[in-house]
Order: sequence, then C-alpha cells, then structure tokens
Amino acid sequence: MDKKIVLSGSRPTGNIHLGNYFGAVSNWVKLQEEYDCNFFIADWHALTTGYADTADLRKNSLSLAADYLASGLDPKKCTIFLQSLVKQHSELFLLLSMNTPLAWLERCPTYKDQLANIKDRDITTYGFLGYPALMAADILMYKADYVPVGEDQVPHLELAREMSRRFNFIYGREVFPEPAPLFTKSKVLPGTDGRKMSKSYGNTISLSDTPDDVLKKIRGMVTDPARIRKDDPGHPEVCSVYAFHKVFSEDKVDDICAQCKKGEIGCVACKKMLSERVAEFQTPIYEKRLEILSHEDTLIDIIKEGSAKAAVRAEKTMEDVRSAIKIGF
Ligand code: TRP
Ligand code: SF4
Repeated sequence: MDKKIVLSGSRPTGNIHLGNYFGAVSNWVKLQEEYDCNFFIADWHALTTGYADTADLRKNSLSLAADYLASGLDPKKCTIFLQSLVKQHSELFLLLSMNTPLAWLERCPTYKDQLANIKDRDITTYGFLGYPALMAADILMYKADYVPVGEDQVPHLELAREMSRRFNFIYGREVFPEPAPLFTKSKVLPGTDGRKMSKSYGNTISLSDTPDDVLKKIRGMVTDPARIRKDDPGHPEVCSVYAFHKVFSEDKVDDICAQCKKGEIGCVACKKMLSERVAEFQTPIYEKRLEILSHEDTLIDIIKEGSAKAAVRAEKTMEDVRSAIKIGF
C-alpha cells in the first residue's frame, strides 16, 4: 500500500528553539518512519515579511537545515528541500493566484494580525497578501494528505483546502486532494519567562545556544513569585521550571511537585536538576549541529539532492496542472 504523504516546513527566520522542537520537529522525526515525508525550508516565505533584509537569508536557511538534521530528520527517510530550489512552486503559486478571490486572502486572520502588529517594516505588499497562496502551492504540489502544523497555521491550511476544491471545480478535474491538518499530542514548553516560547519575546532556549548560555537561561527562569524563602510552600503549576521538568524529568516530576508544595526543595536546587536534564538532551544536538555546519559543502549537497528529488515530483504535478488548465504545449 502506498504511504500517505506528509508535508511541512518552516521559515528560516531564526534558529529552532525548544518550543519548535517539542511542538513540531520531534514529531516530524517520528512521522518519517511511517509516512512519505517531505520537509522543507520556506525561504520564499521568509521574503514575504523580510524582503528588504536578506543579508542572513542563506545563512539562516543552512542553519535551519542543520537544525533539521541534528534533530534527527534523515535524508534517507524523508525528503528535505529548499523551496527556492524547486521552481515549480512559483509556477503553481502564480496559477493559484489567478483564481484565488482577493477576499479570501484579505480576511485571513494571520494577515490581519500581522498587518496590525508589524510596524517596523512595510508589509502592505502583494507578496505578503499572497502568503497563503504560496503555502497552498507548497502543500498541493506534493498532493499531501496530511500537514502537521501548529494552531496558528490552521487558517492557512483551510485556505489551501478551499483553493484545492476551487481548482478542481473550475478545471473539472480532480487534480488535487484536500490536505488535512495533522495534530499530534505534543509536549508544551513555555518560554523562560512563563509566556509562550517565541523569538519575539526573547524567552527562548535554542538548539544552537551554547551549553553555557542554556545554563544561564535556566538560572534566570521565572519561578513561583510567591516563594521568597527556600521553605515557603510553592505553587509548581505557575512555575516555568516545573513545566520544563514535566518534559525533561518525567521520572521525577511527581516528587518535585510534592517537595515544592511542602517547601522541601529550593528553586536553586530545582533549577540545577533541570539544567542537568536539559544539558543531557541539548548538548549532543548542539554539537551535532556544529559538526554539520562545519561541513557546509556536504550540507548544501544534501539540500540540493533533496530539492532535485522534490522537483521531479513537483514537475509531475505541474504536468497534470498544465493539462487541466490547457496551457502550453
Ligand atoms: N507558514 C508556515 C510557518 O510559518 C511555513 C510554511 C510554508 C508551511 N509553507 C508551508 C508549513 C506548507 C506547512 C506546509 O510556520
Ligand atoms: Fe518552581 Fe522548582 Fe521553585 Fe517549585 S521549587 S517554584 S517547581 S523552581
């Protein structure tokens, strides 16, 4: 039986942090064992908001590829590619844009949100409005069955489904299936300050942080503000260190909870235990990443090979698409 097709990607806008890792990439690593998986670096999407500042674009794309590989994505088990190296995505984006109603794009919640919130650059551009059409092209290109995405991407996926239906209806052929979101139970890690982990809050711990930085960040984590002395009873449920222990110290988390509530463990000791666990997890990935990045040519070859493989599939889809539209010879 043919394997179901999975596709997902992320923009190369910074290094993968532990929130991304546990929320997405660790799950991709499992999916590659079971599905026909395609994971990519959405460098064109990075231009939708970052078109004016491209100095770090190549570096960030390589860095994201290194994050993927160091996390355990295996180019023998899945296809890893760079969006801008598979030119078919731009053709499908163009063709979808011809029949995508403006109103669908204008009422997209992420569009309205970012338009209201991003003030430091001008994103009133054609490309930014078209973000979901490019994303739909990414997904439909591989006739993906499942798209593992976070909550924030659901409106985009819904638009991809609508674009798929509309294309099939207009051209009278079932060219595209309807991609479904794939939600999996994932472990949720807050940022070091207790809010959602996000680059824009400056509260991340990244796969690329030096072990020393990780240590410092853990030392600075926000705990239960009501605990002043070591023997004050604590409230682990409001503490970000505790939320980390739930992920990194499953075997000890019940003890930690009980001891914290009774004031039997101090926050300094509690953080120290956590540091050990996080280091055990993060240091090997950190080192693997550096190793991968130190052989840049090999890394670029892996990306190019994956992209060539993706392009073969993409071209097959485009043949169906052109034939349905009756364009070209
Ligand atoms: N929009 C996604 C994000 O910001 C990245 C992305 C681009 C994507 N194209 C995709 C994700 C296709 C899944 C499928 O995270
Ligand atoms: Fe948080 Fe641990 Fe301090 Fe309790 S003892 S408040 S869980 S850091």
